[in-house]
Amino acid sequence: MRTLVVYSSRTGNTKKVADAIYEIMPDGSRIASVEEDPNVEDYDFVAAGFWVDRGKPDRKAEDYLKKIKGKKIGLFATLGADPDSEHAKDCIERASEMVKADNDLIGHFVCQGKVDPKLIAMFAKLPPDHPHAITPERDALHRRASTHPDQQDLRNAQVVFKEMLAGLSIMGAES
Ligand SMILES: Cc1cc2nc3c(=O)[nH]c(=O)nc-3n(C[C@H](O)[C@H](O)[C@H](O)COP(=O)(O)O)c2cc1C
Repeated sequence: MRTLVVYSSRTGNTKKVADAIYEIMPDGSRIASVEEDPNVEDYDFVAAGFWVDRGKPDRKAEDYLKKIKGKKIGLFATLGADPDSEHAKDCIERASEMVKADNDLIGHFVCQGKVDPKLIAMFAKLPPDHPHAITPERDALHRRASTHPDQQDLRNAQVVFKEMLAGLSIMGAES
């Protein structure tokens, strides 16, 4: 099976997860950023990663996701919010909607990724009644996100993608 790990990453969090997933992919797999625009037709399984930008996959990832047709796909993402939050679920759902009609979506992995300090500094300047103003809760969230993705996140991503690959080879053996 020919596998591709393709990712979009602005500040490096999603790239870290992509590198960890690539480590457990079979020999001969490829890793590329969406900017490199790898030809998806050359692969059977695509691990596609994005960072969450205003509640959905970032624009570069979105453009790439919408080009994928007829593949088995595993999605992965990093975001500032808690990965178990409704917000995280909505983000993955929006990404799923971009691929699931034309592909076989096998699974997904989400973890926190530290938020760009420049963005936090911008939020800090907003008036208190602004929807993005820093509150004690947001401050705590940013602090929690600041150490992610950590080694445990990377191991978790590897486990999830190993399981996806195992499932695919069982399916391949049966057919
Ligand atoms: C412009 C911008 C918008 C963001 N929007 C969200 C968001 O809607 N929800 C969220 O949980 N995190 C949001 N984040 C946080 C990023 O998704 C998170 O830090 C991610 O790990 C960045 O990944 P990267 O290092 O691969 O670029 C945003 C960050 C930026 C810079």
